[in-house]
Amino acid sequence: MCGIVGYIGKQKCIDILFDGLSRLEYRGYDSAGIAVLDGAEIGVVKAEGKLSQLKPLLSELPAGATRGIGHTRWATHGAPNTTNAHPHAHANVALVHNGIIENYLELKKQLTGEGVTFQSETDTEVALHLFVRELGRHKTPFKAIMAMIPQLKGAFSLGILVGNEPDAVYVVKQGSPLVIGAGRNENFFASDAMAIVRHTTRAHFLNDGEVGRITEQGVEIWDFSGNVVAPHFVELDISSASTEKLGFKHFMLKEIHEQPRVFSGMLKRLIDLDSGIPNDDELGLSKLDLSRIDNICMVACGTAYYSALLGKYYLEPAVQLPVNVELASEFRYRQPWLSKNTLFIAVSQSGETADTLATVKQAKEHGCQVLAVCNVKMSSIAREANVTLHMDAGPEIGVASTKAFTAMLLAHYLLSLGLGYKRKTLTISDLKKAAVLLKTLPARMDQAIDGKVAIEQLAAKYDEAANFIFMGRGTSYPIALEGALKLKEISYIHAEGYAGGELKHGPIALIDRHMPVVAIAPQDVYREKMLSNIEEVKARQGRIIAVGDQDDQHLRRLADDFIVCPHIADAGLQAMLSVVCLQLLSYYVAVKRGTDVDQPRNLAKSVTVE
Ligand code: G6P
Repeated sequence: MCGIVGYIGKQKCIDILFDGLSRLEYRGYDSAGIAVLDGAEIGVVKAEGKLSQLKPLLSELPAGATRGIGHTRWATHGAPNTTNAHPHAHANVALVHNGIIENYLELKKQLTGEGVTFQSETDTEVALHLFVRELGRHKTPFKAIMAMIPQLKGAFSLGILVGNEPDAVYVVKQGSPLVIGAGRNENFFASDAMAIVRHTTRAHFLNDGEVGRITEQGVEIWDFSGNVVAPHFVELDISSASTEKLGFKHFMLKEIHEQPRVFSGMLKRLIDLDSGIPNDDELGLSKLDLSRIDNICMVACGTAYYSALLGKYYLEPAVQLPVNVELASEFRYRQPWLSKNTLFIAVSQSGETADTLATVKQAKEHGCQVLAVCNVKMSSIAREANVTLHMDAGPEIGVASTKAFTAMLLAHYLLSLGLGYKRKTLTISDLKKAAVLLKTLPARMDQAIDGKVAIEQLAAKYDEAANFIFMGRGTSYPIALEGALKLKEISYIHAEGYAGGELKHGPIALIDRHMPVVAIAPQDVYREKMLSNIEEVKARQGRIIAVGDQDDQHLRRLADDFIVCPHIADAGLQAMLSVVCLQLLSYYVAVKRGTDVDQPRNLAKSVTVE
């Protein structure tokens, strides 16, 4: 989703800003722009489409400029074209914005009445003209910002360049994330630390309701009431190397390959594999009052939501408490039942998803204890929650989630062991049994990835299919949902995931010889039932692509095509292997179709608006 980057210092800033924007590309966008200050003059270039369209225009900017702002826009209000792209500029002021200004129509009417002419269809341009009007009245940018803020409703994180104060750039944070990076005689800011981590790892994450004035020498921060706030700088631990493709054709393929290493790291940190005893501190359990918990609620969006669905399969039997799983966007508006005894688990790779963040605040208002499962340490959700289980899967750049999804599954699984042990619903012998299997998991995952050559060949047979159905039962059911999501996200093929037992309640009407059905059929307690579901599809001439064990001869005979998945004697862990096969299937189908795998159309990595 929209990205912001800004710089003030002694270096020429155009390349710094462009590089910053290119590091935000993974978030998804459809136009981009840069504004710089040269002396007291502002220069702006903008382009529809990708950064490659913006690049040739950079030579129109004053090459020596040492301060500026850049933006990648993911269209919300108005088409993705050059006029609607940010920065918006007027009267020697340039402004970039992330978020949505909810009362923009009302403000636009008011400003139009005062004689303002609007160029774009965006809500952002309203903030620009409002600021320019207040600057005329109050003279200093800081006073103009303070006068503007109470007039805006919604989410508005801003970066502002003002020609008549070239020694500073201004930022405002409300809703969407913003981080300031401190350098020596230079400072940076961005909507995502990824954009600046190459230059500095000293960062202050702005809180909602803060305004910053950034100069070459330093940073001043105020709250929206004008009180001075001391910046709190922390060290970022994002390795900029992990944001490179390292020889892989796509980030998605690289991230699929990283999964065994991510698992090894997580296992090392989160559980003692010899004794089987989970690490309560790292899991976040030692800071919670578990004695009062009598129900669990898991909330998330997208892929994270599917991980939570699997979390229910792990947690309910292990902790013997009801586990409710819900989409954040529904949960936040439906007056849900929550109590002080609810353990509220928010799951989010980015930690910035607006709907999930809103539910965390809601849960806290109800007195729930909130545990976040996140991949970004200083993210908004991690900061808002009482405790965070950090996945530490490393930056995920491909928009379609792979390693973060499996890391979430492992986090939920280990959480179920930790909670079960604390609640005495699991014994030490249960933990030991689980640890024996967990030890083998990274190697099994490597084996699943080794199947990629066969999966690539198979993908070539199906890249022209118009529709796909994925089905599974038990822990393979959420995997079917995730498999279908992955395929539609990156190949644009229509795909649906179903529980095997649901097929005959509607979807079976779609089955004919043109319908590939991916059947996830590991050797678990559901196998016989899955085989019956497969027979039902075959009887209607559907084409079965089975995902199963190497020596499952029966399944092989039934299937038109077969994807070998390594076996592990635990249905919960098996799901983590099956999904790797489906990630590879989607990836190779998408590559064959020539889509933009890492940045699929219309999608954003981190959805910071509701
Ligand atoms: C977007 C991404 C998905 C992700 C979802 C939730 O839609 O494209 O890959 O699953 O947001 O993101 P989160 O960061 O909260 O896990």
